[in-house]
Amino acid sequence: MTPASTDLPAPLKALAGRADDALARVLPGEDLPPTELHRAMRYAVLGGGKRLRPLLVYAAGHALGSDGPVLDAPACAVEIIHAYSLVHDDLPAMDDDDLRRGRPTCHIVFGEAMAILAGDALQALAFEILADDEPEGDDPAQRIAMLRTLGAACGAEGMAGGQAFDLSAVGRKLTLEELERMHAYKTGALIRASVRLGALAAGCRDQDLLERLDRYGHAVGLAFQVRDDILDIEGESAVIGKTAGKDAAADKPTFPSIIGLDASRARLAALVDEALEAISPLGARGEWLADLARYSAARGH
Ligand code: IPE
Ligand code: IPE
Ligand code: MG
Ligand code: MG
Ligand code: MG
Repeated sequence: MTPASTDLPAPLKALAGRADDALARVLPGEDLPPTELHRAMRYAVLGGGKRLRPLLVYAAGHALGSDGPVLDAPACAVEIIHAYSLVHDDLPAMDDDDLRRGRPTCHIVFGEAMAILAGDALQALAFEILADDEPEGDDPAQRIAMLRTLGAACGAEGMAGGQAFDLSAVGRKLTLEELERMHAYKTGALIRASVRLGALAAGCRDQDLLERLDRYGHAVGLAFQVRDDILDIEGESAVIGKTAGKDAAADKPTFPSIIGLDASRARLAALVDEALEAISPLGARGEWLADLARYSAARGH
């Protein structure tokens, strides 16, 4: 039986556990100095989070015939970048949030300076992990392609650029086009990169397929942020693990604020169809990717 798309099927839940274990291994130990920094880094990454981006790495790898340990480094790298982006997103100079993943935000617990450093160190760690040699069958060209993919996704043409669009848009009325560009950078870039990294780690060289996966990633990334915007309105803080209603309070441009809730829901459905169409040639091998597309649009937190 197919589980409701608000929940993840058992194999994907197990893979989220695999990501948790891998992350706990690659993060520096709390007993090693500088202990406060290491504690802040572990706090930001462990003990919560849906692990959507690692799941996309595993699902894309699986669709291309790989389930091996070669996927763990990219899975950890994208989640660590994501966690760093959340630490900085929550800072007083940005969204000024005190609740994240159902707990006080990193800067509330460790102070602003340590939270900034934890973000910095997490970003560097992600690239270090991705650059590490694989014991078997290592292909330097593929590793460089992966490093470039991650770099592009978190820089000025990716997540950081999207955050800049977000800040400069506060209080302004964006067009739908501008809003979609902001979302594609802010959230979409790292989600697209996750899919591509899984495919590259699995040894995919098929440009047509990479292009299809990119279309899938673009649609899922957008759907994910549209759902985030809707949850900010409809969700309860206790369920979403972050303060509900923040977007309207801070006058953020969001999908519902620009096109309304009904049209946002219709857009979500269309994006899921687009994602599923893009991966249709994968057939049954793409089932996890299909599950993750539906989940991104329907998730309750
Ligand atoms: C929240 O991301 C921030 C956005 C990019 C919308 P997630 O909803 O994936 O957060 P976690 O990792 O599950 O906490
Ligand atoms: C955050 O978007 C996106 C990044 C961290 C790059 P939001 O500001 O909407 O995320 P939440 O709602 O705080 O999780
Ligand atoms: Mg933000
Ligand atoms: Mg925020
Ligand atoms: Mg949000």
